[in-house]
Amino acid sequence: MQTGLLHLHNLLRWVILVLLVLSVVKSYTGWKHGRAFSDGDRKTWLFTMIASHITLLLGLYQWFAGRFGLLTHERPEGVSMMKSAFYRFYQMEHPVTMIVAILLITLGYGTAKKPLSDADKYKKAFRLFLTALILILIRVPWPFLQDVGRPLFPGM
Ligand code: HEM
Repeated sequence: MQTGLLHLHNLLRWVILVLLVLSVVKSYTGWKHGRAFSDGDRKTWLFTMIASHITLLLGLYQWFAGRFGLLTHERPEGVSMMKSAFYRFYQMEHPVTMIVAILLITLGYGTAKKPLSDADKYKKAFRLFLTALILILIRVPWPFLQDVGRPLFPGM
């Protein structure tokens, strides 16, 4: 089950990235072209948030109870979390950065429901989604990263 959940966590990365790029593009063009806020925009933002929340739940499981979980894994003797690039990444940098990114995505979706002008909704959401996208891109364990790299697709 652990492996299946990790595979799902890996795959959902692509769902989030596609939806988040779409949310960034839609909020930017809406803002710049003075478009009226539509239900299509709201749904794209909503699906982005839902995908990120599912990934968050799977991530929380990995963080605490996974192969390198804080509660289930014992680091080799003499290896501290902060001094090991691997443990620092998976037990600190990746989870914390992603939680912040998911918070920003949630706030981005929240602008859809705020009593703001359409231009302000788009502008605010654009900034939040773009920041979340950058955070995710810099903290995904891409295969080319030393020590922490993981495959682009599960089981590769
Ligand atoms: C946008 C959000 C996220 C994305 C795109 C993402 C992406 C990934 C990817 C691609 C992997 C490698 C999977 C593999 O080895 O096949 C991974 C591993 C991991 N992620 Fe995330 N993640 C996200 C959020 C989170 C969050 C919020 C947490 C914790 C609260 C988390 C905790 C972990 C842990 C602990 C691992 C390593 C698990 C292991 O190797 O056993 N992730 N993540």
